[in-house]
Amino acid sequence: MKEKIEIHTQEIETILKQYLPKEEGLASSVMAAMNYSVNAGGKRLRPMLMLETYRMFGGEKIVIEPFLAAIEMIHTYSLVHDDLPAMDNDEYRRGKKTTWVEYGEAMAILAGDALLNFAFETALKAFVCDGADADRIARALSILAEKAGIYGMIGGQVADIEAEGLGEQVTLSHLLYIHEHKTAALIQASMMIGAVLAGADAEAIETIEKAAYEIGIAFQIQDDVLDITSTFDALGKPIGSDEKNNKITYVTLKGLEEASREQKERSNHAIALLNSLNEKGYQNDFLTDLIKSLITRLK
Ligand code: IPE
Ligand code: IPE
Ligand code: MG
Ligand code: MG
Ligand code: MG
Repeated sequence: MKEKIEIHTQEIETILKQYLPKEEGLASSVMAAMNYSVNAGGKRLRPMLMLETYRMFGGEKIVIEPFLAAIEMIHTYSLVHDDLPAMDNDEYRRGKKTTWVEYGEAMAILAGDALLNFAFETALKAFVCDGADADRIARALSILAEKAGIYGMIGGQVADIEAEGLGEQVTLSHLLYIHEHKTAALIQASMMIGAVLAGADAEAIETIEKAAYEIGIAFQIQDDVLDITSTFDALGKPIGSDEKNNKITYVTLKGLEEASREQKERSNHAIALLNSLNEKGYQNDFLTDLIKSLITRLK
């Protein structure tokens, strides 16, 4: 499975590179900071989930490519801002200095803003791709905007920051709101956009949204676990960031063992939801294996 994931990651890397901005003109430093942040690496999980969901529903057109780049740009911007001194105040990401450490805070703020905007400039290119279906593209754009914004990722980051230090006042449903929005929302956007662009019906898209919710919550639970159990070398980002910032996490609320148990249970639920689409003829074994591999991920 490791080799398969490696091949799929390379496929995404090649596409992503085509959509990154040229570093030129008087604003070239912001373009350099954008490229630094995206090219630092990362698992490319969101574009991979998008592409494989697209394939699951029979998609095979180039129209998916601008969206693969766009989701990784939005995800990367969320990390650039998440690491700022005013937020999680972290100095390493993807094995390198964070963008604010390398380029200064002002440029990191601007590079984050720029990646968000450039993501939409990029996604809009789907309209001029061969065989573009304007209605599907418009729906995909609307999902991208909503899941990244105040009803999605940004909303979750707001709640995450405001919950710092609230201690026992943070209930499980409060934490689930944070995890759903800050993390699951972009994973939902990834998979739903793949389904929409491939022409999946409303019922299937709803199933995908539910499965992606479970994958997203499980992913953030494991992120919380790894913040305690992993190492800087494995993660490429500091461990102990949550404790440093007095974050309430799945682990502080439920303990390591219960967090891991629930992480696995949610991942298996996601797989069962995907399997429920098999009878309609929708299947992608690599996607299922990818989700399984997240259960035991170490980075
Ligand atoms: C980190 O996401 C932020 C979370 C939502 C937990 P990833 O773990 O996918 O980070 P990269 O893209 O691989 O660096
Ligand atoms: C961040 O959650 C989720 C984002 C939207 C960036 P974390 O703050 O736990 O992510 P890491 O651990 O810094 O990657
Ligand atoms: Mg954070
Ligand atoms: Mg963080
Ligand atoms: Mg974390």
